[in-house]
Amino acid sequence: MDIQKKIVMSGIRPTGFLHLGNYFGAMKNYVQMQDDHECYFMVADWHSLTTHPDTKALKENVHRVLAENIACGLDPDKVALYCQSHVYETAELYLYLNMLAYKGELEKTTTFKDKVRLQPDNVNAGLLTYPVLQTADIILHRASYVPVGKDQEQHLEMARNFVQRFNHRYGEVFPEPVAFNFGGALVKVPSLDGTGKMSKSENQNATIYLADSDELIRKKVMKAQTDSGPTASGMPKPEYIENLFLLMKLVSAPDVVKQFESDYDQCTIRYGDMKKQLASDMALFIAPIREKAEAIRHDQRYLREVMEKGAEKARKSAQQTIAIVRESMGLNYF
Ligand code: TYM
Repeated sequence: MDIQKKIVMSGIRPTGFLHLGNYFGAMKNYVQMQDDHECYFMVADWHSLTTHPDTKALKENVHRVLAENIACGLDPDKVALYCQSHVYETAELYLYLNMLAYKGELEKTTTFKDKVRLQPDNVNAGLLTYPVLQTADIILHRASYVPVGKDQEQHLEMARNFVQRFNHRYGEVFPEPVAFNFGGALVKVPSLDGTGKMSKSENQNATIYLADSDELIRKKVMKAQTDSGPTASGMPKPEYIENLFLLMKLVSAPDVVKQFESDYDQCTIRYGDMKKQLASDMALFIAPIREKAEAIRHDQRYLREVMEKGAEKARKSAQQTIAIVRESMGLNYF
């Protein structure tokens, strides 16, 4: 019997240091999927150019993303771990998909509107068609599952629309990809300041990076907003407290979380103690990843081998898809 593994694809932009949001939204799932699925994970360097046209730090950032992925447990022998710009077929598929994507829907995308607000002087066409390039990344391998955080949900919805349009016009070539998380619901890891999410380039003092030292983690966590505590049993938690509990559930033992939940209910919670515990558990979680990534990050030869091997696997799958795409589109003149 032919048991085909399900195909998985995802990517991370090399726009800064990776953080707990990237880990719990994406990388943790990558690692869990690598044994039973055919996996393609890439560093989205082309995507990073839509917001970071200055490429001085790009090489270092690409190496960092690769190293941190491997340090988190990704095995480059099991998956294709590659760089987006090494797989040129992506650009060809992006071009075809651009003919099926409409200006109106692209302008309505939340991430586009956010970026327009953040960089009003650089509203480039790449920014507008960002979800089209992301769709090309995914369907280039005819992937079904896309492990991502909650912030990518809309991009995946758009990917399904583009796929439906392509399949409708040219024949059933692509499966409809879905955003995936092992825990069920997609994850949004909140920032420590009570608003928004952890992010590579915004909110840096309220984001815990996988490269942060124990001391820096402690400092950031101790600064998190709290108050004088609940005054009656059953009081709902304000968002900034809810977020602390959410973060604690990610890195602390279940009985530790249970104890603080019960202290909250009984109005005996001491937020200073809770933050100390959270900082210590985060530091314990991050230290081995940080140390491993630091060692890998400087091993240029190893990283080059990883990228070459990854690109080779990715290109093989990409070339098969492009051949089918050209055929189905009628771009076969010989
Ligand atoms: P990027 O680089 O912003 O983030 C990489 C991954 O981390 C997840 N993530 C989070 N998850 C939970 N909580 C957070 N605070 C948090 N912050 C980030 C993101 O959801 C993502 O899974 N457009 C993508 C890159 C990309 C891509 C792709 C993804 C390019 N091509 C193809 C999937 C498939 C992005 O900007 O991710």
